[in-house]
Amino acid sequence: MCGIFAYYNWNVPRERRAILQLLVKGLRRLEYRGYDSAGLSVDGDENVPAATLNAVSNNTSPSKLQSVRKSVVIKEQGKIDHLEAKINETFTENPDTFDAEVLVGTHCGIAHTRWATHGPPAPRNSHPQTSDSINNEFVVVHNGIITNHRELRAFLTKQGFQFESDTDTEVVPKLAKYLFSRIQGKRMLFRELVVEVMRHLDGAFALIFKSVHYPNELVACKRGSPLILGVGETSSNDDGERDEKRPRLDSSLRSAEYYLSSDAAAVVEHTKRVIVLEEGDIVHLRDGKHGVYHTKRSSNSNDHATLLKRLESGANSPASESTADGNHASAMPLEVVREAQVLRMEVEQIMKGEYDHFMLKEIFEQPDSLLNSMRGRIELSASSVFSHVPTEEIADGTGGPGKKTTPKQVRFNVPSFPRGLDKPRIVLGGLSEHLNTMNRSRRLMFVGCGTSFHAAVAARGFIEEMAEIPVDLQLASDLMDRQCPIFREDTCIFLSQSGETADTLQALRYAKARGALCVGVTNTVGSAIARETDCGVYIHCGAEIGVASTKAYTSQIVVLTMIALAMAANKNDKAARSEEVINALVSLPEIVRKALQLDKHIQSLAKELYEEQSLLVFGRGYNYSTSLEAALKVKELAYMHSEGINAGEMKHGPLALIDSNLPVIVVCTKTDAVYPKMVSVIEQLRARQARLIVLCTEDDEELISQKDKFASLIIVPSSVDILQPVVNIVPLQLLSYHLTVLREFDVDQPRNLAKSVTVT
Ligand code: AGP
Ligand code: GLU
Repeated sequence: MCGIFAYYNWNVPRERRAILQLLVKGLRRLEYRGYDSAGLSVDGDENVPAATLNAVSNNTSPSKLQSVRKSVVIKEQGKIDHLEAKINETFTENPDTFDAEVLVGTHCGIAHTRWATHGPPAPRNSHPQTSDSINNEFVVVHNGIITNHRELRAFLTKQGFQFESDTDTEVVPKLAKYLFSRIQGKRMLFRELVVEVMRHLDGAFALIFKSVHYPNELVACKRGSPLILGVGETSSNDDGERDEKRPRLDSSLRSAEYYLSSDAAAVVEHTKRVIVLEEGDIVHLRDGKHGVYHTKRSSNSNDHATLLKRLESGANSPASESTADGNHASAMPLEVVREAQVLRMEVEQIMKGEYDHFMLKEIFEQPDSLLNSMRGRIELSASSVFSHVPTEEIADGTGGPGKKTTPKQVRFNVPSFPRGLDKPRIVLGGLSEHLNTMNRSRRLMFVGCGTSFHAAVAARGFIEEMAEIPVDLQLASDLMDRQCPIFREDTCIFLSQSGETADTLQALRYAKARGALCVGVTNTVGSAIARETDCGVYIHCGAEIGVASTKAYTSQIVVLTMIALAMAANKNDKAARSEEVINALVSLPEIVRKALQLDKHIQSLAKELYEEQSLLVFGRGYNYSTSLEAALKVKELAYMHSEGINAGEMKHGPLALIDSNLPVIVVCTKTDAVYPKMVSVIEQLRARQARLIVLCTEDDEELISQKDKFASLIIVPSSVDILQPVVNIVPLQLLSYHLTVLREFDVDQPRNLAKSVTVT
């Protein structure tokens, strides 16, 4: 769940202060992934004592040994600001051993922002974790969980290691040091040592290693947690390629810069060339070049007890497996070719711009993000007619978040979809070859967590209607808890903004093993879910940085709607309905833009509600999802108890909660088939003096005329039934935002949470 980041410069002179600033900036970009503590390691000015380096003699020439610098580790509890203050303190307190101005030509720096799994947030539990706090021989940053850490800790304690943290991670650098000590003078590459370490680890990890025994080298590896390598614009493994403009310490040598990161957000401002690493990959940065290697887990690799016993007895130590020429034979990862991809992300996407918070920016981006989800996927008929909401210029202060919103940031992009066919159609390139299989499935199973699950709840009715196949919704964790039966005839659709959620990933692997067709719906290109599914559709809503998901939710509903339409493309009896929904999709960005103009009204509503303890949200039909999602936003951000309740269940218990104090939002939009039932729900709540906040459509004269009978009324523009949840959630996203600001909580980084939940 955390962010790991590393910067490697080879023959590119940088001040130490600049390197630290670069690392800190990388962490800031990743902070949304985890933010309870942070730390980093860079070289200091002190040399490593010769005795420590004795064992290194076969890895580095003696002359180089003179200049091996000690790794300095700086860590702090809390946000990145705290770490930055600690760095400045370290400069001030240690001017002789940690000079901010010193110029470093070749250097490796690693950094980490944490979401604790083992051990509370505290400096000692922050990363980098170290093999020994005296010389920091091996320092490691880790994203994930080492599940066999107890056994390893017991083993290493027996070997004389003293543990200083409560983390699972600490066994990793200590194990590296232990294995290194057993080389006994034999030659072993840094990556080979890391492969040895990996053999003993169970669980999920992305790890970056730095060591005084391998100066100016970095090794990273991954199994189960995300990791990418950013290749600096001028870096190349080709000796001939040079950047003449870049200053170099030695102009006869190549120069290179590399970035290792949990995701693209920390890399995009430095380079757009990235290599997405695969399970079992190891990256070795050395001599200004990168190498990617791969290792498969051997069949007995789970038997760690045996491995440790053999290690203890010396039978399976790296040294004992050395070949006659002194090279080590057991840990030989094979070099593989991984092509660099070009990131489509722009730096602006990961900046707040003029907004106070990422969440607010992302809410206001929805007209554009929805359009991006549809771009290139809709072809209209020549006769398509649209009921566009008139495009009006948004007056300053009404349509945006106060004075800071400029019309430019919220202006709608007029959609232009190709026309000319007899009937409109949806083109989903990633699914085209699989639609027949999907249509022949015995069951469509949608799997996700949190907001992604809610998107499936929103789309279920329409998918059932169009596909006419039973639809099953599964929370990924619950599916795994129950070991839910899945068959070859099933199609399982995995929804995940991040594409990395461990529960969803685990469920995907489970379904795949049972032969189901696995479809991914994710926002993150190259993510684990994108890679491991058989086919899929990207939602393309752009980077979502706020921990609370907003624009990804609305784009997920739109993509699921398009999947349902694509599945029904050849059904004549669905043609009229399909055309209605496709036309409504085209109008949707405009309608959402109009809904955003409710911001000021919602802000005043928030002022009436922010001191409340609790808030209920009732909805049914398509808008059951709206009630669940609105309540999730309120609880995760405003830390206010909130419950999304299916209004059909109201009489079966929740009604007992109602009194004249508890605020109740009722989603009652006229486009829904369940509208009359919702009107009756309102009546029953009124009969019990409920404090009602009614959300209705602007053509609902009946409810609007009763305005005075409600505590508040939220009037939204209309869409078609299936897309109404996309419109309805907008004012409720804004409500959760304003409640959070008024309650003075952290909007983008709510306590205890992280954006990407990479642990189960
Ligand atoms: C949404 O506001 C939450 N932060 C959370 O429920 C999230 O949707 C869930 O963790 C799933 O994430 P994913 O879409 O990246 O898989
Ligand atoms: N399991 C490690 C810890 O608790 C790493 C957690 C993370 O991914 O941030 O320190």
